[in-house]
Amino acid sequence: MTLTLWGVVLFTAFMVFLVLAIITEAYFKSMYQHSTEILSQRFGIPAEQLEKVVQEAGTRAEAVLEWRLTRGDEGEFFLILLAVTVLLPFLLAWWSSRRFARPLTQLSRAAHLLTRGDFSARVPMDKSLERRGDETALLLKDFNQMAASLERLEQERRYSLAAIAHELRTPVTVLRGRLEGVRDGVLAAGPVEFEKLLGHADLLGKLIEDLQVLSLAEAGALRLEQQHLVMQDLLKRVAGDFTAKAEEKHIGLQLDLPLEPVRVNGDPERLYQVLGNVLGNALRHTPPHGHIHIQLVEDRQKLILEMADSGPGFTPEALERAFERFYRSPDRGRQSGGSGLGMALSKSLIEAHGGQIELFNSSSGACVRITLQTQ
Ligand SMILES: Nc1ncnc2c1ncn2[C@@H]1O[C@H](COP(=O)(O)OP(=O)(O)OP(=O)(O)O)[C@@H](O)[C@H]1O
Ligand SMILES: [Mg+2]
Repeated sequence: MTLTLWGVVLFTAFMVFLVLAIITEAYFKSMYQHSTEILSQRFGIPAEQLEKVVQEAGTRAEAVLEWRLTRGDEGEFFLILLAVTVLLPFLLAWWSSRRFARPLTQLSRAAHLLTRGDFSARVPMDKSLERRGDETALLLKDFNQMAASLERLEQERRYSLAAIAHELRTPVTVLRGRLEGVRDGVLAAGPVEFEKLLGHADLLGKLIEDLQVLSLAEAGALRLEQQHLVMQDLLKRVAGDFTAKAEEKHIGLQLDLPLEPVRVNGDPERLYQVLGNVLGNALRHTPPHGHIHIQLVEDRQKLILEMADSGPGFTPEALERAFERFYRSPDRGRQSGGSGLGMALSKSLIEAHGGQIELFNSSSGACVRITLQTQ
């Protein structure tokens, strides 16, 4: 039993003792009155005068004894009082231990396990606790929910670290293999080979850079170089940089921009990165001779940017998981440059700007909608 509970037991015992003392006092008073009545009847003396007579004659004790004997249940009464004095505090202690102390001890045990890194620790909840709606039961339920969230986060962290290690190992292994080939004379040390080596080093560099930006953005520690921007200018710049790629696949790139400048406060390089990733994805998924439609509208201090392509659209799995780190469609291998960080990064960057990014399928294909606050 805990110290608090012992306190409760002692306090209850004291209170019971106090109450019993008052009852006993009243009991003796009534006994005294009865004895006075008996004696006054026996000697025919008025009760007021009897006091003196009794004191003088010293017969009070005898009279009391007589009255007691006539009652007969004296011993039984005291035995009951004793039993109540002893039993009541223990019953109370047992009840409060079941109701409060035991769940709190279990909570403390689970909290200790949690601090030691055992994220599977939970407070056992029996049916009566589940049904209870008092503060103790609510505390236990909240603790178990918190422990479950921590366990999920820990699993995600472990998975994420394993995925990062896996993603970094692959380009390093490829680089190493090719460098060994050059050293051993298996691969010709010409400009073509060096170009390939540089390509792999670039991929590795992009992966590390993306991971760094993503971690900073998710931790809310990414420093944005914010400035006043006109969204149309940024979109024209991105579209211009991707024109060659679009022409290669004979894809029509249509920009539908309002005449009035749409102004935002944002980091131009980070927003470029988002738009570049979304447009890059659209170009990759749109078949030759397809088209991509970029539409910008301003509505009640908000800009809505939609980039729709005429590709096959998001698969149900991609719709659900595209924002996860390292998620990419099975056909998008590392060789084609995809790490599956693009959408996760885009989401973090847009959210760092206070905006939202959504994915859906339109009648023609995939569509990405970005919403940002305008100035
Ligand atoms: N326009 C699109 N049409 C169909 N599926 C898409 C489209 N854009 C993205 N996806 C799906 O979402 C996945 C994740 O996209 P994301 O940009 O995160 O990764 P990635 O483009 O494969 O790699 P990275 O962007 O790192 O180079 C893609 O692999 C693809 O399955
Ligand atoms: Mg991408």
